[in-house]
Amino acid sequence: MEGVGVRVLVTGHDGYVGCLLVPLLRHAGHDVVGLDTGLYTGCALGSEPERIPVVGRDIREVEAGELGGIDMVAHLAGISNDPLGDLSPDITYDVNHAGTVHLARAARAAGVTRFVFSSSCSNYGAGGEELLDESAPFNPVTAYGHSKVLAEHDLAELANERFSPVFLRSGTAYGVSPRLRGDLVLNNLTGYAVATGEVLLKSDGSPWRPLVHVEDMARAFVAALEAPRDAVHGEAFNVGSTAENYRVRELGALVERLVPGSRVVFGEGAGPDVRTYRVSCEKLAETLPDARPRHTAPGGIVELRQAFLEHGLTREALEGPRFQRVRRVRELQEEGRLDGGLRWQGLVAAGA
Ligand SMILES: NC(=O)c1ccc[n+]([C@@H]2O[C@H](COP(=O)([O-])OP(=O)(O)OC[C@H]3O[C@@H](n4cnc5c(N)ncnc54)[C@H](O)[C@@H]3O)[C@@H](O)[C@H]2O)c1
Repeated sequence: MEGVGVRVLVTGHDGYVGCLLVPLLRHAGHDVVGLDTGLYTGCALGSEPERIPVVGRDIREVEAGELGGIDMVAHLAGISNDPLGDLSPDITYDVNHAGTVHLARAARAAGVTRFVFSSSCSNYGAGGEELLDESAPFNPVTAYGHSKVLAEHDLAELANERFSPVFLRSGTAYGVSPRLRGDLVLNNLTGYAVATGEVLLKSDGSPWRPLVHVEDMARAFVAALEAPRDAVHGEAFNVGSTAENYRVRELGALVERLVPGSRVVFGEGAGPDVRTYRVSCEKLAETLPDARPRHTAPGGIVELRQAFLEHGLTREALEGPRFQRVRRVRELQEEGRLDGGLRWQGLVAAGA
C-alpha cells in the first residue's frame, strides 16, 4: 500500500485535531514531524500533548529547504473557526489562503508527493436543506469559509503527476482531545450543561450542522495519506457520516437528555443563523472505507460529560481563553505577545 512508513509533516500538530492525528500516524508506522506556531500551547484539558520534532514554526515562512525528506503533508494549521476568522479577515486570508499556497509550493518544490488539506464544510455556507455532496456549489458566508474555498482553488492548480492535493472537507468536530475546544457546537452545549445545568442555544436552533468526532476526523487524514494515489489525487471528500447531520436544536435536546438535570435555554436575541448545511459523506465511505466514522454525537456527549466532570469544568473556564480560541488570541494580543498579524513578539511562544 502507498503511504506506509513515510515521513509526514503535520502542520497544526499542536491543535485540537492535530494532537490526535500525530499518535495515530506514529502508531501506523509513519515518521512524523510537526509545524505549529503554538497559539494554544498551555491550553489543555488535562495534560499537554506529547512534544514532537518540528520544522519551522509559521506556515507563512517555511521554505522548501526545510522540507527535505518529507514525503507527505497533512496541513491542518490555520485560523480554524468563524469567530477567530472574523477577528481579522485579512489575517485569516493571509494564513488560510496565502499561507496554505505558500506552504504547498514549498512542499511541491521539496518533492512532497501528497498534500492533504484540512478544508471544511463551511465552504457550503448558506447551503439550505438539501443534502450536499462534493459537487455542490460553494456558498461561504464568513472569512473563514471564503479562505478555505480560495485555498482549495489554488491548491488544485498545483496538482501534477508528482504532487497530489487532497481536500478533506470536515464537518464540525466534537469530542475529547488534550486541546479541547469549547467553541465547537457540541462541546459548547455539553460544556454549558455540565458547568451550569443550562444547555445554552445561541441561535434559534434551526441551522443544520454535519458533525464528526475529532478522532474520526484524524482517522480520515491517515486514510487519505495511505490511499492509492489514483483514489485521492485532486479529490475532495466530505468528512463525517451522512447520518450525523443535526439541527442545532436536536443537539440541544440530545445534550438535555444525556446530561442529567440540564435543560435547554435560548440565549438573549437568539435568532436564525445563515450558516446551514447538510452533507453527504458517501464518497468518503466508499473510497476510503478505513475512514468510516466510528463515533456518533450521543456517544460524544457522554464522553465529553465524563471528561468535563473529571476536570471540574466551570463556566468561567468554558468561556475563557483556555477553551475559546478567539479569547485566547485576543488575550495574547492584549498582552503584547502576539501582533495583529498573529506573529509572536519576542523569542518564544506562549508556554514554550
Ligand atoms: N475542528 C473543526 O471542527 C474543524 C472542522 C473543519 C475543518 N477544520 C480545519 O482543520 C484544521 C485543524 O482544526 P483544529 O480544530 O485542530 O484547529 P486548532 O485551532 O485547534 O489548531 C490549529 C493549529 O494551527 C496553528 N496555527 C495557526 N496559525 C498558524 C501558522 N500561521 N503557522 C503555523 N501554525 C499555525 C495553531 O497554533 C493551532 O495549534 C484547521 O485548518 C481547521 O480549519 C476544523
